[in-house]
Amino acid sequence: MSAETGSVEINEVVLRDGFQNEPCFVPTAEKIRLANRISKTGVRRIEVSAFVSPKAIPNLRDAEEVFRGLVREPGVIYTALIPNERGVQRAIECGVDEVNLVMSIGEKHNLRNLRMTCAQSLEQFKGIMKALSGTGIAVNGTIATTFGCPFEGAQPVERILWCIDTYRALGITAVTIADTIGVANPRQVSRLTSLIRKHHEDLPLTLHLHNTRDMALANAMAAVDEGVRSFDASIGGIGGCPYAPGATGNICTEDLVHMLHQCGISTGVNLDALLDLSAELPGLLGHELPGYVVKAGTSERLYA
Ligand code: COA
Ligand code: ZN
Repeated sequence: MSAETGSVEINEVVLRDGFQNEPCFVPTAEKIRLANRISKTGVRRIEVSAFVSPKAIPNLRDAEEVFRGLVREPGVIYTALIPNERGVQRAIECGVDEVNLVMSIGEKHNLRNLRMTCAQSLEQFKGIMKALSGTGIAVNGTIATTFGCPFEGAQPVERILWCIDTYRALGITAVTIADTIGVANPRQVSRLTSLIRKHHEDLPLTLHLHNTRDMALANAMAAVDEGVRSFDASIGGIGGCPYAPGATGNICTEDLVHMLHQCGISTGVNLDALLDLSAELPGLLGHELPGYVVKAGTSERLYA
């Protein structure tokens, strides 16, 4: 598919991936305020929080309260990350539209991050799918460390394809492949997304990129050229897995949207609204953020 055509969906993950890696607790009221403002920007999906252990991710210990504070915008899908059966019970009680199951394909990262082997994670997924049956809640499955594990390195393509087959056999209807530690390069992204799309033509596929080595926008463009039409991204380019050494922020939402719009690819997202939110984040978090466009202005910017 040509990069000049089609429309791309943006899934905003600042509240989950972004805040999970912040050193200071982000006040619940601020999270709610931000979520409700994001819901007006035109993003397709908001990952509101994670139903994980509060000891593992202290910044997201207020997931229930954040969900309770949402003013739901029609058409926006409100989702949450869950690793286990305990998480799905909390998600159901909060009335999520969708859950995002997560497992790392690298065994060692899965053990470090979720304290489970991949087999144990998949057992949890079975229980989760049973708990979700009849609820109408949609299920996305994320494969973390798809492009490389911080402890094991590159993952064999056969294992990635096996993982997608396994997710689908469990009833997971959409899959996200994640470059958790920002090691993917554009050629690798092209090869892998094209292969996955060949094997699973009907599978809604999302790409979750981190910009640890400044390759995220190039990787996104490579994926768009292969027909990928859904991306996770974080306002301000913050985020990262606290259990992956050296992890840094997600691809920056406003930089991604700006690039796509410049290329003539629509997203349905109001870039100015995103830039306003991004401009306020350093004040909330107490540090500078990596995003570019909020500092430089859009490509149309003119000087007197
Ligand atoms: N939500 C809230 N609490 C949970 C939970 C969940 N989904 N799952 C487990 N817990 C609690 C248990 O109740 C228990 O609490 P207690 O110590 O007060 O009794 C504690 O966490 C330990 O439970 P256990 O089942 O032994 O889990 P664990 O210590 O082996 O940890 C995970 C497993 C998956 C819960 C934990 O590693 C985790 O939450 N990881 C998430 C990491 C993450 O989000 N990374 C970034 C995103 S990829
Ligand atoms: Zn991530």
